[in-house]
Amino acid sequence: MRSMLLITGGAGYIGSHVLVELIAAGYRPIVLDNLSNSSRLAVQRVEGLTGLPVPFIEGDVRSLRSVRAVMSFYQSQGTPIEGVIHLAGCKAVGDSVAHPLNYYDVNVGGATALLTAMRQYAVHRLVFSSSACVYGQPLSLPVKEQHPPAPTSPYGRTKLIVEGMLHDLSTADPTFSFVILRYFNPIGAHFSGRIGESPHGAPANLFPYIAQVAAGRRRTLKVFGNDYDTSDGTGVRDYLHVMDVARGHVTAMEYALQHRARLTVNLGTGSGTSVMELVRTFERMSGQAVPCSFTQRRPGDVAAIWADAGRAWQELGWKARYTLEQMCADGWRWQHQNPDGYLAPVRLRRYNRLHEPTPSLRTPREQRVG
Ligand code: NAD
Ligand code: UFG
Repeated sequence: MRSMLLITGGAGYIGSHVLVELIAAGYRPIVLDNLSNSSRLAVQRVEGLTGLPVPFIEGDVRSLRSVRAVMSFYQSQGTPIEGVIHLAGCKAVGDSVAHPLNYYDVNVGGATALLTAMRQYAVHRLVFSSSACVYGQPLSLPVKEQHPPAPTSPYGRTKLIVEGMLHDLSTADPTFSFVILRYFNPIGAHFSGRIGESPHGAPANLFPYIAQVAAGRRRTLKVFGNDYDTSDGTGVRDYLHVMDVARGHVTAMEYALQHRARLTVNLGTGSGTSVMELVRTFERMSGQAVPCSFTQRRPGDVAAIWADAGRAWQELGWKARYTLEQMCADGWRWQHQNPDGYLAPVRLRRYNRLHEPTPSLRTPREQRVG
């Protein structure tokens, strides 16, 4: 058995896929999540897929008390946490414009509490979920990590602030080792169709919206702009399979455990796909029609961005493996088998409430702290 790792936000879309890959690589992940945008079912399905229990702690990463309690508990058991993958956060660009303080609170406040607890318990290894959003409007393509950051939203700015905190901390404490992963556009789902993206409310992102239109849950996809300077006038992004993203975390954690790392890498395929190319591929792989209508550009969107994925290959030996066809086929399998995601929102709240552990039954697997 390899290291115990704390996964904040491990019940979420990317987190649940990361759990599967970590377990396959022999790590023992522990999840801390406040379920603000996820369901316990995701972690239970990971247990079903992997055949291993995944300790789940319902708690808020902003609560220093909660994070300390988790670290203290595992230290007292003689199985200290050796590294952290920090995924917990708020992630919707438009929402961050409307509610900026919430983003500073959760994304920056959460990282501050986590790093404080990590220092106290001598946990020196971190992998952090950053975003291609930190680049803003690209000056050249593909985007390399050295590209000057210029985020155009509060969300992107919170990610950049946390990146700066990690650099400052490793300057003050050279034993602190971190890898920043700047993801481009993760899409798709685990090949089993058992875990996937289950947004609360209307999806803010393209892929889950396409999937819900294909499934008949929504009537039309609104395409935000068809007058960009791109091959077909629609926005271009670097979509990558969520299982490639998940594998990237395993590789990054291995690197952080073995090196005194201060590494920032893009996770992308290195090529761009337009909105309409993604729609057509999804239609082909699902056999479903995705009716579209063109509307105005979405404020804050860039025309085109894709990654230079060279550093991830050189430093981590990581390269995206899956094609756009596989992303669409796997995403469709998840959508088709789980038309309401994990559960419809009202039932989801009831489910989470009913599955609160009773105090007398609390075990290390099901502690509630904070
Ligand atoms: P998600 O919302 O599915 O997962 C985030 C998880 O964090 C959820 O389970 C949520 O309940 C939890 N969470 C939120 N606030 C919390 C708090 N205060 N305390 C504890 N848990 C909390 O999102 P995701 O797509 O899985 O994204 C994971 C991370 O990756 C985020 O930090 C996001 O900013 C980053 N990211 C995502 C994308 C993307 O396109 N999905 C792209 C770039 C970066
Ligand atoms: N789009 C539509 N219609 C929709 C949704 C999106 O046409 O209903 C278009 C957008 O205009 C854009 C493309 O589809 O051209 C992709 O949009 P997404 O919202 O799916 O993705 P973004 O690139 O805007 O942002 C996403 C996440 C961020 C993350 C970023 C990383 O929302 O959290 O990818 O690149 F940081």
